[in-house]
Amino acid sequence: VVDIRKLYAQTGMFTYDPGFTSTASCESGLTFIDGDEGVLLHRGYPIGQLAEESSFMEVSYLLLNGELPNQGELNKFTHTISRHTMLHEQLATFYRGFRRDAHPMAIMCGVVGALSAFYHDSTDITDPTQRMIASHRLIAKMPTIAAMAYKYSVGQPFLYPQNDLSYTGNFLRMTFGVPAEPYEVNPVVEKALDRIFILHADHEQNASTSTVRLAGSSGANPFACIAAGIACLWGPAHGGANEAALNMLHEIGRPERIPEFIARAKDKNDPFRLMGFGHRVYKNYDPRATVMQKTVREVFAALNVSNPVFEVALQLEEMALKDDYFVEKKLFPNVDFYSGVILSAIGFPTTMFTALFALARTVGWVAQWNEMISDPEQKIGRPRQLYTGPTERDYVPITSR
Ligand code: ACO
Repeated sequence: VVDIRKLYAQTGMFTYDPGFTSTASCESGLTFIDGDEGVLLHRGYPIGQLAEESSFMEVSYLLLNGELPNQGELNKFTHTISRHTMLHEQLATFYRGFRRDAHPMAIMCGVVGALSAFYHDSTDITDPTQRMIASHRLIAKMPTIAAMAYKYSVGQPFLYPQNDLSYTGNFLRMTFGVPAEPYEVNPVVEKALDRIFILHADHEQNASTSTVRLAGSSGANPFACIAAGIACLWGPAHGGANEAALNMLHEIGRPERIPEFIARAKDKNDPFRLMGFGHRVYKNYDPRATVMQKTVREVFAALNVSNPVFEVALQLEEMALKDDYFVEKKLFPNVDFYSGVILSAIGFPTTMFTALFALARTVGWVAQWNEMISDPEQKIGRPRQLYTGPTERDYVPITSR
């Protein structure tokens, strides 16, 4: 009888690292994070500078190609993306197969996975040009797919992309516009949403990105790999934090109740935590939240919001930032706190929040997928395990059990 534990001892050393908290699975030149110092760099550029001064299209080019584009390169890239925004008309039928109240992320998973059927034979992933075309298609089609998921859920007709609008303006129109009526893109809202897209574009080897890499490591179709990433992002521990933050603000309801909730968050006998505060990686501050702090106020002013929930958000932020408990433990509002509030003020239902995250993260996913496939060291991902089951034993016929 083979003793499996003895076998492990004979076959040399390997690491046991649940959750991969200290094991690098790849080399990557895309994104650098220093959680203690609150640093996030894309291809070396600080996220704060990109969010303030750049655009989502420019950051997408940067992540995909490694360098910031010049004006000609940016124009060409933006034009290429706008040429790929349409979905095959047959996909409208595919949407109609979903329940009317289907979660937008269920639709996103299904539709993006289904795109692999449209672009399978035409995608040779060993050819860099074809990989780039697949990447452009994915970046371009995500706003259309997300907007159609929203339209389907509210029972309104789908709107085709209007390619003279910006990437983000086009998405806003496809989501909130109605046929035969002009739609005016609010420039403050457009800028704020573009910033949210930049802030969510990539975050090194997080769970969904690792999922895309793992799926892609077998040579699978890129659209199917991104569908796998969307499935992983859907989980509440990954993409659902801004939804949780907004639900909590609704629960608080009015500014007078904030002290009660702060007291609960500090009470060690109460499992309640302030949602949207603290971060697993950023232990001093979340560099993405710093940008959002200003943006949230710009959006509130531009939209003249009057919902008490938004007043709760601003006062809670102020009170927690002054509270000894939160200051000592370095618990500050994270990017999800602000993005949830902004998306809600713009008019997105909470169920769309993760869909917007997926739209933005698609850029990181395809950039990481391209990087992986072009790495000559790349192998199929195959984690090891620590076996804890029975040692070898003989099969017992059912009549003798
Ligand atoms: N409200 C109240 N107390 C908190 C909060 C909070 N939001 N977050 C952490 N604490 C306290 C903990 O109780 C703990 O106290 P202790 O030292 O007295 O035991 C201390 O701060 C450290 O907390 P940890 O859970 O050890 O910190 P960790 O890094 O494991 O958790 C996390 C980070 C999960 C994000 C946590 O801050 C949290 O639950 N926040 C609320 C949920 C949220 O916003 N999540 C989205 C963040 S996005 C992301 O991390 C990918």
